Amino acid sequence: MKRIVLFASGSGSNVENIFQYFQNNAEVSIATVLTNKIDAKVLERCNRLKISALYFNKTAFTETDSVLDFLKSTNPDLIILAGFLLKIPEKLVKNFPNKIINIHPALLPKYGGKGMYGMNVHNAIKANNEQETGITIHFVNENYDEGAIIKQVKVKLLPEDSADDIAKKVHQLEYEHFPKAIEELLND
Ligand code: GRF
Repeated sequence: MKRIVLFASGSGSNVENIFQYFQNNAEVSIATVLTNKIDAKVLERCNRLKISALYFNKTAFTETDSVLDFLKSTNPDLIILAGFLLKIPEKLVKNFPNKIINIHPALLPKYGGKGMYGMNVHNAIKANNEQETGITIHFVNENYDEGAIIKQVKVKLLPEDSADDIAKKVHQLEYEHFPKAIEELLND
């Protein structure tokens, strides 16, 4: 049995999609969803789906070992950032080498780095009249959006696509490819 832990700060639609993908797979279970946002919609989803979820505050995350200790005791096979906005502290990265992955809603290294999340990314893509965008699944290191790339998938954009249309196209790619990438890593 492989265990995964997910970190999410927002809506959690990827968390729900990953849950559904592995729902009937006896080999993979979601141990816990961790969030730093007490009012994040992901907590409602976890409640509805009966997934264990835990909240921690930013101070506990950055200045104490409580999250690290929790992860050590859970001993997950993979730690997945699915719309998680805080930078991962170095000691966490060091304790789980090549076990933390993130999904970024653009083709890194373009449109990455601090402040490049959510609609900020899609608005910037629109402002630059990009003809394509996509997703990047990558390992997490000490710097935002800079770890080794595991997988990228592209999607074509039309001139009339709004930033919201771009977001929808990217989310579709995430739903299709993120769970499969997780499965492949767990099987490696
Ligand atoms: C996704 O677009 C993901 O790429 C980014 O944050 C968003 C999370 O969406 N890192 P959701 O909370 O899973 O709906």
